[in-house]
Amino acid sequence: MTDSQKSTNVVWHHATVTRERRQQQNNHKSVVLWFTGLSGAGKSTLAHAVEESLYQRQCRTFVLDGDNVRHGLCGDLGFSKEDRVENIRRVGELAKLFLEAGVITLTAFISPFRSDRELVRSLMPHGDFLEIYCECPLEVCETRDVKGLYKKARAGKIANFTGISSPYEEPAKPELVIHTSQYDLDTCVQQVIGMLQARGIII
Ligand code: ADX
Repeated sequence: MTDSQKSTNVVWHHATVTRERRQQQNNHKSVVLWFTGLSGAGKSTLAHAVEESLYQRQCRTFVLDGDNVRHGLCGDLGFSKEDRVENIRRVGELAKLFLEAGVITLTAFISPFRSDRELVRSLMPHGDFLEIYCECPLEVCETRDVKGLYKKARAGKIANFTGISSPYEEPAKPELVIHTSQYDLDTCVQQVIGMLQARGIII
């Protein structure tokens, strides 16, 4: 139970269809691939491309994407420090459920604070949370500016913009670093797939 838990008199119900049985049926293990990095670093693009590759290998997958989740589950949250903490906490709990469901779960959130990512890591059994740092220099993200948000942030029209007016804390010991500005998408996908094979998550 967390400190913030308000529900009392709730009893955990154990499923007979366990994670282990789901994994057996799926023919692969479940895992959370946590992509982190600046806006425009390529997290969503890479997560979806990895998902496509896994789908073609008959794997069960799902992508949780920052921009999408903020339309529903986290639609009540903005970009203050407190709201980002809550955003990542909710997504972490959601990813944990997907892990139990036997799914290879790919998350694409800036998740700028190291302590939040570590908190999510601590929710999962050791080895089931793999942090993938999409490393891309701010200048490159800003030059690409796919959504036009950096321009707005520089003009002072968006407050607390990561990399401009709000910090991004680089992962200290990520399981994988992908230099998204240096390699093409296929190469980046192969790096992630290679890690999953090396760890025995997929065959
Ligand atoms: S996080 O910091 O809480 O992890 P999240 O990944 O959910 O962020 O959302 C980031 C996306 O929201 C960005 O890709 C961008 O499109 C949009 N966005 C809007 N305002 C901001 C802001 N102030 N800082 C960063 N991203 C923002």
